[in-house]
Amino acid sequence: MKATATAHPNIALVKYWGKRDEALILPHQSSLSVTLAPLSVTTTVEWGIGRDEVSINGEPARGSELDRVVAMLRLVRSQPARVVSHGNFPKAAGLASSAAGFAALAVAARAAAGLPRDVRAESTLARQGSGSACRSIQGGVCIWHRGTATDGVDSYATQELKADHWPELRLLVAMVSREEKEVKSRDGMRSAVETSPYYEAWTRDAEEEVPRALAALYAKDLKAIGEIAEKNAWRMHATSLAADPPLCYLKPQTLEVIAALQGLRRDGVPAYFTLDAGPNPVVLTDAKHEAAVEAALVKLGASSVVRCVPGGDATVTFE
Ligand code: DP6
Repeated sequence: MKATATAHPNIALVKYWGKRDEALILPHQSSLSVTLAPLSVTTTVEWGIGRDEVSINGEPARGSELDRVVAMLRLVRSQPARVVSHGNFPKAAGLASSAAGFAALAVAARAAAGLPRDVRAESTLARQGSGSACRSIQGGVCIWHRGTATDGVDSYATQELKADHWPELRLLVAMVSREEKEVKSRDGMRSAVETSPYYEAWTRDAEEEVPRALAALYAKDLKAIGEIAEKNAWRMHATSLAADPPLCYLKPQTLEVIAALQGLRRDGVPAYFTLDAGPNPVVLTDAKHEAAVEAALVKLGASSVVRCVPGGDATVTFE
Protein backbone atom coordinates (compact mmCIF):
# COMPACT_ATOMS: atom_id res chain seq x y z
CA MET A 1 0.00 0.00 0.00
CA LYS A 2 3.06 2.24 -0.35
CA ALA A 3 4.96 3.38 -3.46
CA THR A 4 7.44 6.07 -4.47
CA ALA A 5 7.60 7.70 -7.90
CA THR A 6 9.89 10.27 -9.52
CA ALA A 7 8.97 12.62 -12.39
CA HIS A 8 10.68 15.49 -14.23
CA PRO A 9 9.10 18.91 -14.79
CA ASN A 10 8.49 19.97 -18.39
CA ILE A 11 8.71 23.18 -20.38
CA ALA A 12 6.08 23.78 -23.03
CA LEU A 13 7.28 24.99 -26.44
CA VAL A 14 3.66 25.28 -27.56
CA LYS A 15 1.87 26.39 -24.39
CA TYR A 16 -1.36 25.34 -22.74
CA TRP A 17 -3.21 28.55 -21.87
CA GLY A 18 -6.90 28.26 -21.03
CA LYS A 19 -9.46 25.68 -19.98
CA ARG A 20 -12.73 24.72 -21.59
CA ASP A 21 -13.66 22.80 -18.41
CA GLU A 22 -12.30 24.15 -15.11
CA ALA A 23 -13.29 21.16 -12.95
CA LEU A 24 -11.90 18.41 -15.18
CA ILE A 25 -9.00 20.60 -16.41
CA LEU A 26 -9.69 20.26 -20.12
CA PRO A 27 -7.80 22.68 -22.37
CA HIS A 28 -9.01 24.72 -25.33
CA GLN A 29 -5.98 23.64 -27.37
CA SER A 30 -3.27 20.98 -27.59
CA SER A 31 0.25 21.72 -26.31
CA LEU A 32 3.76 20.30 -26.67
CA SER A 33 6.62 20.13 -24.18
CA VAL A 34 10.07 18.74 -23.37
CA THR A 35 10.80 17.19 -19.95
CA LEU A 36 13.72 18.65 -18.02
CA ALA A 37 16.46 16.53 -16.42
CA PRO A 38 18.15 16.53 -13.98
CA LEU A 39 15.27 18.36 -12.22
CA SER A 40 12.78 16.02 -10.56
CA VAL A 41 10.20 15.55 -7.83
CA THR A 42 10.00 12.31 -5.81
CA THR A 43 6.75 11.48 -4.04
CA THR A 44 5.77 8.63 -1.71
CA VAL A 45 2.12 7.68 -1.22
CA GLU A 46 0.99 5.34 1.55
CA TRP A 47 -2.67 4.29 1.71
CA GLY A 48 -4.52 3.04 4.74
CA ILE A 49 -3.59 5.49 7.47
CA GLY A 50 -5.95 7.41 9.80
CA ARG A 51 -6.31 10.71 7.91
CA ASP A 52 -4.80 12.50 4.92
CA GLU A 53 -1.32 13.88 5.67
CA VAL A 54 0.57 15.78 2.99
CA SER A 55 4.10 17.12 3.29
CA ILE A 56 5.89 19.01 0.50
CA ASN A 57 9.62 19.76 0.82
CA GLY A 58 9.47 19.13 4.56
CA GLU A 59 6.47 21.42 5.24
CA PRO A 60 2.86 20.36 5.79
CA ALA A 61 0.72 21.33 2.77
CA ARG A 62 -2.09 23.80 3.48
CA GLY A 63 -4.99 25.56 1.79
CA SER A 64 -5.54 25.09 -1.91
CA GLU A 65 -2.31 23.08 -2.32
CA LEU A 66 -3.57 20.50 0.21
CA ASP A 67 -7.06 20.51 -1.35
CA ARG A 68 -5.65 19.78 -4.81
CA VAL A 69 -3.54 16.85 -3.58
CA VAL A 70 -6.42 15.35 -1.59
CA ALA A 71 -8.80 15.80 -4.55
CA MET A 72 -6.42 13.75 -6.72
CA LEU A 73 -6.06 11.04 -4.08
CA ARG A 74 -9.87 10.69 -3.95
CA LEU A 75 -9.90 9.97 -7.69
CA VAL A 76 -7.82 6.86 -6.95
CA ARG A 77 -9.25 5.60 -3.64
CA SER A 78 -11.82 6.70 -1.08
CA GLN A 79 -9.31 6.06 1.72
CA PRO A 80 -6.94 8.56 3.43
CA ALA A 81 -3.24 8.51 2.54
CA ARG A 82 0.12 9.90 3.65
CA VAL A 83 1.98 11.84 0.95
CA VAL A 84 5.61 12.91 1.27
CA SER A 85 7.06 14.87 -1.64
CA HIS A 86 10.51 16.37 -2.29
CA GLY A 87 11.84 18.32 -5.27
CA ASN A 88 15.56 18.32 -6.10
CA PHE A 89 15.38 21.89 -7.36
CA PRO A 90 14.91 25.05 -5.31
CA LYS A 91 12.24 27.63 -5.95
CA ALA A 92 15.15 29.82 -7.01
CA ALA A 93 15.44 27.71 -10.17
CA GLY A 94 12.54 29.82 -11.40
CA LEU A 95 10.50 26.82 -12.47
CA ALA A 96 7.16 25.65 -11.11
CA SER A 97 7.29 22.21 -9.51
CA SER A 98 3.55 21.52 -9.87
CA ALA A 99 3.86 19.60 -13.17
CA ALA A 100 6.49 17.20 -11.80
CA GLY A 101 4.72 17.11 -8.42
CA PHE A 102 1.31 16.06 -9.73
CA ALA A 103 2.89 13.63 -12.21
CA ALA A 104 4.87 11.90 -9.44
CA LEU A 105 1.76 11.93 -7.21
CA ALA A 106 -0.41 10.34 -9.91
CA VAL A 107 2.12 7.56 -10.60
CA ALA A 108 2.80 6.87 -6.89
CA ALA A 109 -0.89 6.96 -5.87
CA ARG A 110 -1.85 4.39 -8.51
CA ALA A 111 1.17 2.15 -7.85
CA ALA A 112 0.52 2.20 -4.09
CA ALA A 113 -3.10 1.19 -4.78
CA GLY A 114 -1.80 -1.88 -6.63
CA LEU A 115 -2.79 -0.63 -10.09
CA PRO A 116 -0.51 -1.60 -13.00
CA ARG A 117 1.53 1.04 -14.88
CA ASP A 118 -0.64 2.63 -17.56
CA VAL A 119 0.70 5.87 -19.02
CA ARG A 120 -2.65 6.97 -20.42
CA ALA A 121 -4.44 6.50 -17.09
CA GLU A 122 -1.55 8.20 -15.23
CA SER A 123 -1.54 11.15 -17.64
CA THR A 124 -5.33 11.53 -17.35
CA LEU A 125 -5.07 11.47 -13.55
CA ALA A 126 -2.10 13.90 -13.44
CA ARG A 127 -4.05 16.31 -15.69
CA GLN A 128 -6.74 16.59 -13.04
CA GLY A 129 -4.16 17.85 -10.52
CA SER A 130 -2.53 20.39 -12.83
CA GLY A 131 -2.99 20.44 -16.59
CA SER A 132 0.69 20.61 -17.53
CA ALA A 133 1.42 17.60 -15.26
CA CYS A 134 -0.12 15.25 -17.84
CA ARG A 135 2.95 15.96 -20.01
CA SER A 136 5.40 14.78 -17.30
CA ILE A 137 4.41 11.10 -17.17
CA GLN A 138 6.61 10.25 -20.13
CA GLY A 139 9.97 11.76 -21.00
CA GLY A 140 11.35 13.41 -24.12
CA VAL A 141 8.80 15.32 -26.19
CA CYS A 142 5.12 14.92 -25.28
CA ILE A 143 1.92 16.27 -26.79
CA TRP A 144 -1.17 16.88 -24.67
CA HIS A 145 -4.06 16.25 -27.07
CA ARG A 146 -6.91 18.58 -26.22
CA GLY A 147 -9.56 15.95 -26.95
CA THR A 148 -13.22 16.65 -27.62
CA ALA A 149 -15.11 14.42 -25.13
CA THR A 150 -16.96 16.25 -22.36
CA ASP A 151 -15.77 13.75 -19.73
CA GLY A 152 -12.09 14.20 -20.69
CA VAL A 153 -11.34 10.58 -21.65
CA ASP A 154 -9.47 11.70 -24.77
CA SER A 155 -7.52 14.55 -23.13
CA TYR A 156 -4.11 13.17 -22.13
CA ALA A 157 -0.49 13.32 -23.27
CA THR A 158 1.46 10.93 -25.46
CA GLN A 159 5.20 10.62 -25.91
CA GLU A 160 6.20 11.64 -29.44
CA LEU A 161 10.02 11.55 -29.21
CA LYS A 162 12.09 9.77 -26.60
CA ALA A 163 14.55 11.61 -24.35
CA ASP A 164 17.55 10.35 -26.34
CA HIS A 165 16.21 11.53 -29.72
CA TRP A 166 18.22 14.77 -29.63
CA PRO A 167 20.97 14.46 -26.99
CA GLU A 168 22.63 17.78 -27.98
CA LEU A 169 19.52 19.86 -27.16
CA ARG A 170 20.03 22.11 -24.12
CA LEU A 171 17.47 24.08 -22.12
CA LEU A 172 18.83 26.72 -19.74
CA VAL A 173 16.49 27.98 -17.04
CA ALA A 174 17.53 31.58 -16.27
CA MET A 175 16.39 33.21 -13.05
CA VAL A 176 16.35 36.93 -13.79
CA SER A 177 13.72 38.12 -11.30
CA ARG A 178 12.95 36.83 -7.85
CA GLU A 179 9.70 38.71 -7.43
CA GLU A 180 6.79 36.37 -6.70
CA LYS A 181 4.35 36.47 -9.59
CA GLU A 182 1.16 38.26 -8.64
CA VAL A 183 -1.22 36.21 -10.77
CA LYS A 184 -0.99 32.42 -10.81
CA SER A 185 -1.22 30.55 -14.15
CA ARG A 186 -4.64 29.21 -13.19
CA ASP A 187 -6.10 32.70 -12.69
CA GLY A 188 -4.14 34.26 -15.55
CA MET A 189 -5.41 31.78 -18.10
CA ARG A 190 -8.99 32.10 -16.84
CA SER A 191 -8.86 35.84 -17.32
CA ALA A 192 -7.47 35.37 -20.87
CA VAL A 193 -10.33 32.97 -21.74
CA GLU A 194 -12.98 35.29 -20.31
CA THR A 195 -11.76 38.72 -21.35
CA SER A 196 -9.09 38.64 -24.09
CA PRO A 197 -10.42 39.50 -27.56
CA TYR A 198 -7.43 37.58 -28.94
CA TYR A 199 -8.31 34.33 -27.18
CA GLU A 200 -9.96 32.52 -30.07
CA ALA A 201 -7.07 33.37 -32.41
CA TRP A 202 -4.65 32.05 -29.77
CA THR A 203 -6.33 28.63 -29.59
CA ARG A 204 -6.50 28.25 -33.36
CA ASP A 205 -2.87 29.26 -33.85
CA ALA A 206 -1.48 27.11 -31.02
CA GLU A 207 -3.33 24.03 -32.28
CA GLU A 208 -1.73 24.50 -35.71
CA GLU A 209 1.76 25.02 -34.23
CA VAL A 210 1.85 21.66 -32.43
CA PRO A 211 2.59 19.48 -35.52
CA ARG A 212 5.07 22.09 -36.81
CA ALA A 213 6.93 22.07 -33.49
CA LEU A 214 7.06 18.29 -33.51
CA ALA A 215 8.44 18.22 -37.07
CA ALA A 216 11.17 20.72 -36.11
CA LEU A 217 12.14 18.64 -33.06
CA TYR A 218 12.08 15.45 -35.10
CA ALA A 219 14.45 17.09 -37.62
CA LYS A 220 16.64 18.43 -34.76
CA ASP A 221 16.31 21.87 -36.35
CA LEU A 222 17.20 24.34 -33.60
CA LYS A 223 16.40 27.44 -35.66
CA ALA A 224 12.97 26.10 -36.61
CA ILE A 225 11.96 24.99 -33.10
CA GLY A 226 13.48 28.13 -31.58
CA GLU A 227 11.43 30.39 -33.83
CA ILE A 228 8.25 28.43 -33.13
CA ALA A 229 8.89 28.53 -29.35
CA GLU A 230 9.49 32.29 -29.35
CA LYS A 231 6.48 33.03 -31.53
CA ASN A 232 4.22 30.85 -29.40
CA ALA A 233 5.45 32.41 -26.14
CA TRP A 234 4.92 35.93 -27.54
CA ARG A 235 1.40 34.99 -28.65
CA MET A 236 0.49 33.52 -25.25
CA HIS A 237 1.73 36.66 -23.52
CA ALA A 238 0.03 38.91 -26.10
CA THR A 239 -3.27 37.16 -25.37
CA SER A 240 -2.92 38.02 -21.69
CA LEU A 241 -1.65 41.55 -22.32
CA ALA A 242 -4.96 42.08 -24.15
CA ALA A 243 -7.03 40.77 -21.21
CA ASP A 244 -9.10 43.04 -18.96
CA PRO A 245 -7.42 43.93 -16.64
CA PRO A 246 -4.24 43.51 -18.71
CA LEU A 247 -1.82 40.92 -17.43
CA CYS A 248 1.93 41.35 -17.97
CA TYR A 249 4.30 38.65 -16.68
CA LEU A 250 7.37 40.22 -18.31
CA LYS A 251 9.87 42.29 -16.32
CA PRO A 252 12.48 44.72 -17.70
CA GLN A 253 15.15 42.02 -17.18
CA THR A 254 13.09 39.57 -19.27
CA LEU A 255 13.15 41.98 -22.20
CA GLU A 256 16.89 42.53 -21.72
CA VAL A 257 17.49 38.78 -22.08
CA ILE A 258 15.26 38.58 -25.16
CA ALA A 259 17.15 41.46 -26.82
CA ALA A 260 20.51 39.90 -25.90
CA LEU A 261 19.51 36.58 -27.49
CA GLN A 262 18.87 38.41 -30.74
CA GLY A 263 22.43 39.79 -30.48
CA LEU A 264 23.86 36.34 -29.79
CA ARG A 265 22.13 34.98 -32.88
CA ARG A 266 23.62 37.76 -35.01
CA ASP A 267 27.02 36.58 -33.74
CA GLY A 268 26.26 33.00 -34.80
CA VAL A 269 25.22 31.60 -31.38
CA PRO A 270 21.85 29.80 -31.65
CA ALA A 271 19.76 30.74 -28.58
CA TYR A 272 15.98 31.09 -28.40
CA PHE A 273 13.66 31.77 -25.46
CA THR A 274 10.37 30.49 -24.20
CA LEU A 275 8.52 32.04 -21.28
CA ASP A 276 5.87 30.57 -18.99
CA ALA A 277 3.55 32.68 -16.84
CA GLY A 278 6.47 34.46 -15.16
CA PRO A 279 9.52 36.62 -15.88
CA ASN A 280 12.20 33.91 -16.13
CA PRO A 281 13.11 32.72 -19.64
CA VAL A 282 14.10 29.19 -20.56
CA VAL A 283 16.69 29.34 -23.34
CA LEU A 284 17.02 26.67 -26.04
CA THR A 285 20.47 26.07 -27.45
CA ASP A 286 22.80 23.14 -28.23
CA ALA A 287 25.66 21.48 -26.33
CA LYS A 288 28.30 23.32 -28.36
CA HIS A 289 26.98 26.78 -27.41
CA GLU A 290 25.73 26.01 -23.89
CA ALA A 291 28.70 27.58 -22.06
CA ALA A 292 28.59 30.77 -24.16
CA VAL A 293 24.82 31.14 -23.58
CA GLU A 294 25.17 30.53 -19.85
CA ALA A 295 27.96 33.14 -19.60
CA ALA A 296 25.79 35.65 -21.46
CA LEU A 297 22.84 35.01 -19.12
CA VAL A 298 25.03 35.46 -16.01
CA LYS A 299 26.44 38.68 -17.47
CA LEU A 300 22.86 39.90 -17.96
CA GLY A 301 22.29 39.46 -14.22
CA ALA A 302 20.69 35.99 -13.99
CA SER A 303 21.10 34.95 -10.33
CA SER A 304 21.03 31.29 -11.29
CA VAL A 305 21.15 29.34 -14.54
CA VAL A 306 20.11 25.69 -14.45
CA ARG A 307 21.38 23.60 -17.35
CA CYS A 308 18.89 20.94 -18.46
CA VAL A 309 18.65 18.18 -21.06
CA PRO A 310 15.55 16.24 -22.17
CA GLY A 311 14.56 13.95 -19.28
CA GLY A 312 13.20 10.40 -19.20
CA ASP A 313 9.92 8.80 -18.15
CA ALA A 314 8.40 9.03 -14.67
CA THR A 315 9.49 5.94 -12.73
CA VAL A 316 8.24 3.95 -9.77
CA THR A 317 11.37 3.81 -7.64
CA PHE A 318 10.13 1.84 -4.64
CA GLU A 319 7.10 -0.33 -3.94
C1 DP6 B 1 2.21 28.81 -18.83
O1 DP6 B 1 -0.61 23.43 -15.65
O2 DP6 B 1 0.13 25.13 -13.94
O3 DP6 B 1 3.13 26.85 -17.84
O4 DP6 B 1 -3.93 23.37 -15.06
O5 DP6 B 1 -4.43 25.43 -13.77
O6 DP6 B 1 -2.83 23.74 -12.84
P1 DP6 B 1 -3.41 24.39 -14.09
O7 DP6 B 1 -2.23 25.19 -14.81
P2 DP6 B 1 -0.73 24.82 -15.11
O8 DP6 B 1 -0.43 25.88 -16.29
C2 DP6 B 1 0.70 25.85 -17.07
C3 DP6 B 1 0.73 27.05 -17.93
C4 DP6 B 1 2.06 27.31 -18.62
C5 DP6 B 1 2.10 26.67 -20.02
C6 DP6 B 1 2.31 25.17 -20.10
O9 DP6 B 1 3.00 24.59 -19.25
O10 DP6 B 1 1.82 24.61 -21.09
